[in-house]
This record gives sequence, structure tokens and C-alpha cells, in this order.
Amino acid sequence: MPFPNPFPALSNRNDDAPLLGSAPLEPQLMRRRRIFVVVLLLMMGLVGVCSLVILITSGDGGEDWTPSGEDDDKCPSPKEVSEYLKARRPEEGRPTLRGVHEGVSEKSFGKGRLGAIPYPWTKKMLAWQRTGYHFQPQKNWMNDPNGPLFYKGWYHFFYQYNPSGAVWGNISWGHAVSKDLINWRHLPLAMVPDQWYDINGVWTGSATILQDGQLVMLYTGSTNTSVQVQNLAYPADQSDPLLINWVKYSANPVLVPPPGIMDHDFRDPTTAWLTPERKWRIIIGSKINKTGISLVYDTMDFKTYEMLDGVLHAVPETGMWECVDFYPVSEVENEGMDTSVNGPKVKHVVKTSLDDDRNDYYALGTYDSEAGIWTPDDPSIDVGIGLRYDYGIFYASKTFYDKKLRRRILWSWIKETDSEKSDIQKGWASLQAVPRTIVFDMKTGSNILQWPVKEVERLRRNRIVFDKVEVTAGSVVPLDVVSTSQLDIVAEFKVDEEALKRMNVNGSDSSYSCQKSGGAAERGALGPFGLLVLASKHLIEQTPIYFYISKDTKGNFKTFFCADHSRSSQANDVDKEIYGSTVPVLKDETLSMRILVDRSIVESFGQGGRSCITSRVYPTRVACEDVKIFLFNNATDARITASLQIWQMSSASIQ
Ligand SMILES: *[C@@H]1O[C@H](CO)[C@@H](O)[C@H](O)[C@H]1NC(C)=O
Ligand SMILES: *[C@@H]1O[C@H](CO)[C@@H](O)[C@H](O)[C@H]1NC(C)=O
Ligand SMILES: *[C@@H]1O[C@H](CO)[C@@H](O)[C@H](O)[C@H]1NC(C)=O
Ligand SMILES: *[C@@H]1O[C@H](CO)[C@@H](O)[C@H](O)[C@H]1NC(C)=O
Ligand SMILES: *[C@@H]1O[C@H](CO)[C@@H](O)[C@H](O)[C@H]1NC(C)=O
Repeated sequence: MPFPNPFPALSNRNDDAPLLGSAPLEPQLMRRRRIFVVVLLLMMGLVGVCSLVILITSGDGGEDWTPSGEDDDKCPSPKEVSEYLKARRPEEGRPTLRGVHEGVSEKSFGKGRLGAIPYPWTKKMLAWQRTGYHFQPQKNWMNDPNGPLFYKGWYHFFYQYNPSGAVWGNISWGHAVSKDLINWRHLPLAMVPDQWYDINGVWTGSATILQDGQLVMLYTGSTNTSVQVQNLAYPADQSDPLLINWVKYSANPVLVPPPGIMDHDFRDPTTAWLTPERKWRIIIGSKINKTGISLVYDTMDFKTYEMLDGVLHAVPETGMWECVDFYPVSEVENEGMDTSVNGPKVKHVVKTSLDDDRNDYYALGTYDSEAGIWTPDDPSIDVGIGLRYDYGIFYASKTFYDKKLRRRILWSWIKETDSEKSDIQKGWASLQAVPRTIVFDMKTGSNILQWPVKEVERLRRNRIVFDKVEVTAGSVVPLDVVSTSQLDIVAEFKVDEEALKRMNVNGSDSSYSCQKSGGAAERGALGPFGLLVLASKHLIEQTPIYFYISKDTKGNFKTFFCADHSRSSQANDVDKEIYGSTVPVLKDETLSMRILVDRSIVESFGQGGRSCITSRVYPTRVACEDVKIFLFNNATDARITASLQIWQMSSASIQ
């Protein structure tokens, strides 16, 4: 059947489309909120007339802000906010736990911060948070990426989606297509929970393209008794490049939990790869007691399976393995490889999403395809105890091989780190990271490199160059860039040679850690230094992305790459942690970072993508002033020279 191109608009991006217009809060919702606020004010009146009076009369310079939503262009002063919050009850901030009882990882944020009272966000602040060039559905909740693939000229993206709200639940498969991984067109839901074997959720799964070009999808269903089973689905019409209609196999489920595996510990089948015997092989994440494992199955037809003895890999004390992924990387070429490739000069990555700490871990190793066993290169940094894809907010990721441009691409779910109440108020929750290309790091030989797909560079506008800007110890240098809420920043830093020499054995803190040290405000001889993004005029709010160099007692330099969220927002109910890790810096390499800023998300890549940090940032000052960008150097004894290229980023077309 000839296929008419339904999206002429995709080739003709509308860069000037008003971004904020894309996520209007429904008027009805706003009205309801106002009624709610009026009731609330009445209640406050009953419980504390005094605080109400303070709230109304304490405005700075006549700024009589109230959280009614009617003063949306006003910025509340810190005093106004604190008076407002004092009048609220801690119970209001208690998050509803979601997902664990149903048999998946906790989906709501803030479990550890019971009782943070919701911040009085205004409509304008929340509208600002919606991104310009990250994949999001038009509204509602999204989580894991599912079955990404390239098929008959289109990139397809499926995702865990709640069609009826901005919280986890009713999980279905959303679907969108793209020609370039950046501009997207939403399509109808691919699958909804409508069978006994997935009535509690059409959960995560992966696509496999067979040798004859046919496509199959395996996914986890949660049954009418909440047992996790694996199901088969396929396109109703394999000749439809848009893959609009999906058929669930009539004899589903194709796999049920094997003996010894609990009903809630059997999920997320991978893309299949070919064994030397020409069988298809998949792995499925699970656990036995506290050991995280990957079960291995072989199949010829995706309907019947043979379970292998033993597992592909297991790591004690890592708990449930979710969303496992397995793929080859070339040791000698900067290209991706089809999932079935093995041989000399090939390493294999095993990745797991740890249910226990909700981070994505990977390790490099060798795969014995005869035995179906993978061995890590370095057991001390085995899967789940060593390297992470990303040291910020990044979970449930999945790769696919893009045969069009011969690259392996990584998708990942980026959750919200604000309160569920704010998500409901803004009508959406979660993002996907900009898809990243993955290659083996041939220089270090011990990690992968992640880099935003090159197509995102087509959104770059108005390059501004800053050449060799000197940043003296303890200073902050504003960068003259207007409109900084959507940026692509490439920065290089040179540390004063003399300072490096001066730093003796006692010169720095050998026990430095991004998470545990004092963030950008803790000064050492050679750091921190870097950029302040999404910063307010007077740095009341700022998100530092920085390097810190320490020297251990043996005289070796160690470089850290960190992101400090402790001052990123004046809101009381958002994440304030500091993230990061060490990053390998080889002799004669310059320190470099790339930062993608897109309103409430910041993706940072250290040393060409050896270490990555994704941040969710919720500034409040955006309601009354533009966000700014600064260079900073909080080292006590080093001058830094920074060279930067900064582009403003247009919005993608995501309709
Ligand atoms: C699930 O869908 C039903 C029917 O649309 C709706 O009433 C319910 O609120 C939804 N649950 C969640 C958590 O969104
Ligand atoms: C679940 O569905 C199966 C298949 O239709 C049915 O036999 C079984 O009784 C159902 N169980 C419950 C608890 O509804
Ligand atoms: C799991 O733990 C139980 C109770 O401690 C123990 O009896 C069992 O042998 C363990 N199973 C495995 C496979 O280690
Ligand atoms: C380093 O510290 C030790 C112990 O505090 C001290 O004895 C030594 O003199 C210091 N060395 C230098 C070069 O400052
Ligand atoms: C630098 O450190 C000082 C002292 O801790 C702190 O007050 C200041 O905020 C820091 N600068 C930045 C940009 O974090």
C-alpha cells in the first residue's frame, strides 16, 4: 500500500512557535484552583488570622503577592513565601507512594522528604518549566522508554504513559515518530491495558527486527492478579512505516515467572540477539534474595522459549534488576553495532536499572556467546557497584541500534524532582533525555562515551564565542548572553600551571566527593570552577556545573565533575542534592564540558561524555526576571582560563 507522508510540517520546523503556548493549563483547572485557594484562605483565616494578615501586609516595596494565581507575574519575596508556608500543615506535602505495591519501583519523588509543604507555584513559573527540545507527551505522566527502533525510514519511540493523569498509573504505550530524533509527531496509543495478562499495566519492553525485516515487540504485562509475565505483540501491518496498529499475540503470555522467581520480580525483556546456533536470545531482569540477576531465554519464534541454566550475569547485594540492556561496542571504531555482533575487538555492555537506588549502572566486559555468560573486565566496578550512565536523574534507559546512521542510541526517562502536587498542577510529569550516541572510550579503555545525537545541533542559533576569559580565584564573571533558558554550551577550562605545581601533597582534600563535600561553596586550592546556569540576577538562585581537582596523598590528581542543586531554587519542595563523580582526565587533555540547558532540565557532559549529570531545576525567579549565565571560580589558589561557545537553542517541533 503506498504510504502518504502525513507530516509535511516535519521538514519545515516552526522554530518560532510560542513554546509556552504548547502547555496551557486548562481554564477549568485554573478556575478550580482559584476556588480551592479561596477555600484555603478561608481555612487559614480560621486557624490563623495573624499569619494571613502578615501574608497580606508583608510585601516588599508594595509587591502584594498572594498565592492565588492572580498575581502570576509577581515574584514572591522569600519572606512572603516563608509566611505563606508557615500557615500550611506539613501533611499537605506527604507524597503518595506509587508503584511499589503494584510491583515496580517507586515512582513518586520525595519519599525521603515527608512533609515538605508544597511551594505556591504560579501558573507562569510552571509554564516556564515545560521544555523546548526534549521529548514530552502533550500532557500527563510518562516514564520508561520502550521499544525504540528505526523502521522503514522513521525513528519510532514508545513510552510508558498514563492517558488519564500526571501521576503513575493505567500504564499504556504512548507512541511517536520522527525523521531526526529531535522533531516528533505524536501518534495514537500503541497498546493499552485491555487483556487479563496486561490489565494492570502494559509495562516496559523492547523491539527486535528479525532478519527478514519483520518486527516483534516483547513487553511485560501485569496480570489480573499482578503477576509479571512477558507478552508478544507485533504490528498489524508490517508494511506500515508508521506502525499505527498493534496486535497482541493470541496465546499470550509467552513467559511466566520460572520456579524460584517471585511474581513481582520478572520484568523488562531486552531486544533479542542471534546466538551462534541462529536462535534468538533475550535477557530479563530479576533477583534472588538480594542478588540482582539477568535470566536468559532462547527462542526460534518468540512464542516458545527455552530457559538457559545459569544467568548472563548476577551481582550480590544489588537487588532487583529492572530494564536490563545488553549490547556490543567496538574497541576500534567509532560506530555502533547491531545487537547480534560479537567477535574480536568487541566488548559488551551490561546495564541495569537498580530498583533499590533508582540509578542506571553499566559495566564493560566480555561475552561468551556459546555459554551465554558475560564476564566484567574489572570485577571491582561490576554492574551495579561501579559506573553509572549518569550521576544525576536518569533511569530505566534503553538503547537501540540505528542502522541508518550506524550508531547505538540511548534513551532515558528523566523524572521530576518536584512534588507530585506541582506535577498535577502543571498537567505533566517527566521528560526523556536528548537521545545520546554511545561509543567505547578508546582512550581510557575503561568506560563508554555518551554524546547528544548530532541532530540536536540543528537547533543551534546565534553562536556567541568567549575566548580565553580569565576567571581569578574566588570570582564570578557574568557572560553577556541574552535569553538563556534554552542553550547549548561547549566550554574548555585551563588551570594555571603554576597553581598545579604549587599544590603540594597537603594542598587539597583527598577525601573530596561531589555528594558529600559542600558543593560549589566549598573552596579548595584547585576548585570548584565552571558555570552557573539558570541563575538569577543576584545569584539568589544558581545551578553550578563544575570541576574540582583534588590531589591524593600519593600526589595523583583526581578530577571531579559535579552539579550542585542546593541553591537552584528557592522552592522548598524540590530536590536540593549535589550530584557527580570523578571523571578520567588523561595527560595533556584540556578540561571540557558541554551543557544542554532546556528550561527545567540541564544535561551536562564532562570530558566528551565520560561522565554525565542530568539535573532537574525549578527556579522561581523566572516569574519576574530573566535567567542568566556566569563563569565562576571558587578555587582559593588558581586562576582559570575559560573558552566557550554558546548557542541559543530553538524549540523542536513536537506535535
Ligand atoms: C485510571 O483510569 C481511570 C479511568 O480513566 C481513572 O478514573 C483513574 O483516575 C486513573 N488512575 C490514575 C492513577 O490515573
Ligand atoms: C484472570 O484471568 C484469567 C484468564 O481470563 C481467568 O481465568 C482468571 O479467573 C482471572 N483471575 C481473576 C482473579 O480475575
Ligand atoms: C534466599 O534466602 C533464604 C532465606 O535466608 C535462603 O534459605 C535461600 O537459600 C536463599 N536462596 C538463595 C538462592 O540463595
Ligand atoms: C603536610 O602536612 C604534614 C602534617 O600536617 C606536615 O608535617 C608537613 O610539613 C606538610 N607538608 C607541607 C609541604 O606543607
Ligand atoms: C564560593 O564560596 C563561597 C564561600 O563558601 C560561597 O559563599 C559562594 O557562594 C561560592 N560561590 C559559588 C558560585 O558557589
